[in-house]
Amino acid sequence: MTAPLPPALHRVKVSGDAPYAIEIGPGLLGEAERIAAQLRGRHALIVSDGHVAPLYADALENALRAARPNLTLARYVLPPGEHEKTLARFGECLDALARLGATRDATVLALGGGVVGDLAGFAAACWMRGVDVVQLPTTLLAMVDSSVGGKTAVDLPSGKNLVGAFHPPRAVFADTATLRSLPARELRAGLAEVVKYGAIFDDSFLDWLEAHADALLAGDDAALSQAIARSCAYKADVVARDPYERGDRALLNFGHTFGHAIETEQGYAGATGDGLNHGEAVAVGMVLAARLSTALGLAGAADAERLRALLERLGLPTTIPAGLSPQALLARMRLDKKADASGLRFILWDRAGLARIVSGVADDLVLQVLAAG
Ligand code: NAD
Ligand code: GLY
Repeated sequence: MTAPLPPALHRVKVSGDAPYAIEIGPGLLGEAERIAAQLRGRHALIVSDGHVAPLYADALENALRAARPNLTLARYVLPPGEHEKTLARFGECLDALARLGATRDATVLALGGGVVGDLAGFAAACWMRGVDVVQLPTTLLAMVDSSVGGKTAVDLPSGKNLVGAFHPPRAVFADTATLRSLPARELRAGLAEVVKYGAIFDDSFLDWLEAHADALLAGDDAALSQAIARSCAYKADVVARDPYERGDRALLNFGHTFGHAIETEQGYAGATGDGLNHGEAVAVGMVLAARLSTALGLAGAADAERLRALLERLGLPTTIPAGLSPQALLARMRLDKKADASGLRFILWDRAGLARIVSGVADDLVLQVLAAG
């Protein structure tokens, strides 16, 4: 019997002032020459978390040392979980760069999920006013969303991602083999952000996801690689047009105003199992955004139901967790970055595959949707 061919390596380019490539495929972390080619100086800091580092950091470090014997390499490992995406951990990461003696041509290697990517990227944005970051995402969510586009941040107790910077990576290497160790719950969380691209840009991608839901949930390499490459292409396109979210990049926040409110109100408790993680909160948020669109007369109820059914099929939550009050969630939304002087601003849709920004939505209607949700 012949061994199956490995899924093809995908490459997506992000254009703009500082263009970069996203490479997607199994085994990329072992391709040290490729990664080392992105290092301009002789200092590199691997930033990772307590789940990912024991699995992948030694191999990466050894391969990099072999590829670049003169590299001065160190590691900063933070405890896993959203509740660690803090200013305190960000400060520790900067201390690690200081101990390394990192110069302006240093590189931060962000090895992990979105928490690591956001925090490490923000540290790279700030160290000496900006050094390179290479994103090495190991969750589906980070591969399809957070490693691309240059948004970096940490959370405050009062709100998610409130302190951060735009700092595009020098390169992204998404080693899809790392998804084999990802807990099933985290794989599903990533699928929420994949569904988001279909919801906002292209209902034919929703058709594809409906047809491939079982393969994706089973961790099928080819299906996942295709979903990642297609998601990155949607994101690369909008980020190239609008790198600083002055226009339609905001569409990527579909479901996030509701989702961030849920995460903040739960005290970022997703990692402990006492709350929803980011992708799960976005899944609930997208259903609420679709229902708000229906309540405003923008879109039909059938579209909202189609989205809910797909998310449910992908094993994602679609209702607000018990115990969260509509009033408290509304108060959280006022501090969300997507609110502006005119009040609450939502990403809604006219139909599946066609999202738009809507400002000045009345509180009463939002409360009504939250109360029903
Ligand atoms: P995460 O980084 O917390 O990772 C989820 C869990 O999986 C963690 O416990 C982690 O240790 C573990 N893990 C990661 N890779 C693993 C692997 N290969 N094998 C085993 N375990 C692994 O969460 P996430 O869902 O990747 O990212 C969520 C974060 O991303 C949030 O903070 C969110 O705000 C941010 N985000 C940022 C952007 C952006 O544009 N910057 C976009 C979307 C989300
Ligand atoms: N995840 C939203 C963005 O990158 O703009």
